[in-house]
Amino acid sequence: METKRVIIRDAAHPKEEELREAAQILQQGGLVAFPTETVYGLGGNALDETAAKRIYAAKGRPSDNPLIAHISSMEELLPLVSRIPEAGRRLAERFWPGPLTMIFPKSEQVPFSTTGGLDTVAVRMPSDPVAMKLIRMAGVPVAAPSANTSGRPSPTTADHVWEDLNGKIEMIVDGGAVGIGVESTIVDVTGPVPVILRPGFITLEMLQEMFDQVKIDPAILGPMADGVRPKAPGMKYKHYAPLGQLTLVELKEETKKALHTPGSSQWQEVEEAAQKRGISLEHADLESIYMALQTDKLAAEKEKQGAKTGVICTEETEKFYETKLKGRIGQRAQADTVAHNLYRVLRDFDDLQVEYIYSESFAGDHLGQAIMNRLNKAAGYHIIYV
Ligand code: TXA
Ligand code: MG
Repeated sequence: METKRVIIRDAAHPKEEELREAAQILQQGGLVAFPTETVYGLGGNALDETAAKRIYAAKGRPSDNPLIAHISSMEELLPLVSRIPEAGRRLAERFWPGPLTMIFPKSEQVPFSTTGGLDTVAVRMPSDPVAMKLIRMAGVPVAAPSANTSGRPSPTTADHVWEDLNGKIEMIVDGGAVGIGVESTIVDVTGPVPVILRPGFITLEMLQEMFDQVKIDPAILGPMADGVRPKAPGMKYKHYAPLGQLTLVELKEETKKALHTPGSSQWQEVEEAAQKRGISLEHADLESIYMALQTDKLAAEKEKQGAKTGVICTEETEKFYETKLKGRIGQRAQADTVAHNLYRVLRDFDDLQVEYIYSESFAGDHLGQAIMNRLNKAAGYHIIYV
C-alpha cells in the first residue's frame, strides 16, 4: 500500500481542504496517522471492528491491548459510555480538551475489538488543532494508539511515524513535532476514587488539588511482581524499548548526603571535575553533576570493550561528559523539555544502532513521574545505584 503524506502548512490553523481526504479515509474504514499534543496517533473509526483490527495489524500490537477513542466535543462522549461518573465530569471540565484519557463504563455501541474485550472504554479529547479538526470532520470517534510499531518509542514527529508505518496505512498527516512528547495521563473514573493508570502531563499533584483521594495503579511505580496485572493492559508490555540496553543511573541516599558534606570523596570528585573543566559550581546542583560523572564512567567502560555506547545527558550536565555519543534530553530544571525530547533521543540511538545507553535519572514528582515511568520501562527497570 502506498502511504500518502499530507503536510499541514500552519498546524495551529489547519485548513478544511488539507484534512478532507484524511477525514474521508477514516469514514471509509481506513487508517490515518495524525499529530496530537502528546504523541502522533494512528487513527481509525472506533466503531468499526475492521478498522480496529487493521490498527492492531499495522502496529503489530496484541489485540488484548485496548485503544483510546478520541472525540472533539462533549456531545460525542455520551454515545460511547453508559454513565459519566462525577469525577469524570469534573476532570473533563478541567482538562478537556487536553492530554488526559479517562476510563468510563462503555456503551453497547463501542465494539469489544476497540476495548480489547473490556466493559470499559478509554476516551480522550485532544487539544491539538489538527487532531480536533480531523476528528470533527470525520464525524466518528477515532481510535488512536500511538503511531509506532509495537515495542518502539512513541512517535513525536511525522518522520518517526513514516519510519514505522510507511506502506501499512493510507495516510500520514504531518503537523510538525508534537508539544508534550509523552502519552496522555490515563485516569480510571469508574470507581469511588480516581486511579491513575498511566502518568503524563496532567500530574498526580494536579489531581490531588481536585480530589480528597487519588490512587495510583501500583503497576506504574515499579517492576510488576509476578501475578500482578496493571489495570491498563498496555502497561504490562515492555513498551518503549530502544534497541540497545538502556541502564538508568540513580543516586543512593548516602551519596546524596555525602555530596552535601564538603570534603567527602564524592564532593571532592565533583570539585575536581569542575576545576579541570574550568566550570564554576556556584548555583550548580552537585547531585546531578555527580550522577553525570558516574554515568560517563559506566559508558567509558563499555566503550573500552568496543561496544557502541551512548549517554543521555541534560543541558546542565553535558559538559561533564567525555563519551562521544550524547543524547541531549533537555533541561533538568524544566521537566517539560525532558518529556519533549525523551522519545526522540531514544529513536536517535536506535538509528545509530547504539548497543548500550546510560541515562541520568530524574526527580519522580510532577511531570517527572511520567518521565521516570517511561525511562524505567524503556530500561526494563535496569538501574545502577551509585
Ligand atoms: O497520548 C495518548 O494517549 C496517545 C495519543 C495518540 O492520543 N495514545 C496512546 O494510545 O498512547 P496507546 O494505545 O499507545 O495507549 C493506550 C493505553 C494502553 O496502555 C491501554 O492499555 C490503555 O490505554 N487503555 C485503553 N483502554 C483501556 C481501558 N478500557 N481500561 C484500561 N486501560 C485502557
Ligand atoms: Mg503506545
